Amino acid sequence: MKIAIGADHGGFGLKQILAAKLHDWGHEVVDCGCNSTESVDYPDFANQVCDLVLSGGVRFGILVCGTGIGMSMVANRRKGIRAALCNDEYSARMSREHNDANILCLGDRVLGSGVAESIVDAWLKSEFVGGRHLKRIKMFSE
Ligand code: RB5
Repeated sequence: MKIAIGADHGGFGLKQILAAKLHDWGHEVVDCGCNSTESVDYPDFANQVCDLVLSGGVRFGILVCGTGIGMSMVANRRKGIRAALCNDEYSARMSREHNDANILCLGDRVLGSGVAESIVDAWLKSEFVGGRHLKRIKMFSE
């Protein structure tokens, strides 16, 4: 699967770990930066990943900042993006099954890398179930 990943300086470390893990799992990873721990502005990276998801260039996006909050705020302002900030596997699974999330947001300063990897794994393995949930998504997608 083709997946875009982006981070600010607060998420750089976890982004590097997750990009390598995604590659190991056989995914094609588009790394939108940033490329160091030098201070940058998270909206720039959130929007790059959103652009790729919205254009169909990638199937999913993953965004990492210190808390995941700023990334999720920016991403959810974009029409067609459903970004889920998840700190646990259950939320990650449900964000796919019920909310058809197309971007996963994570907090590097909140999660250990092992937990973050498990969240990403659960998120990627879960499928949208549709039905009544599709109707609800349409209610906020116009
Ligand atoms: C950067 O210090 C931090 O504010 C950012 O990574 C993120 O947590 C914002 O939501």
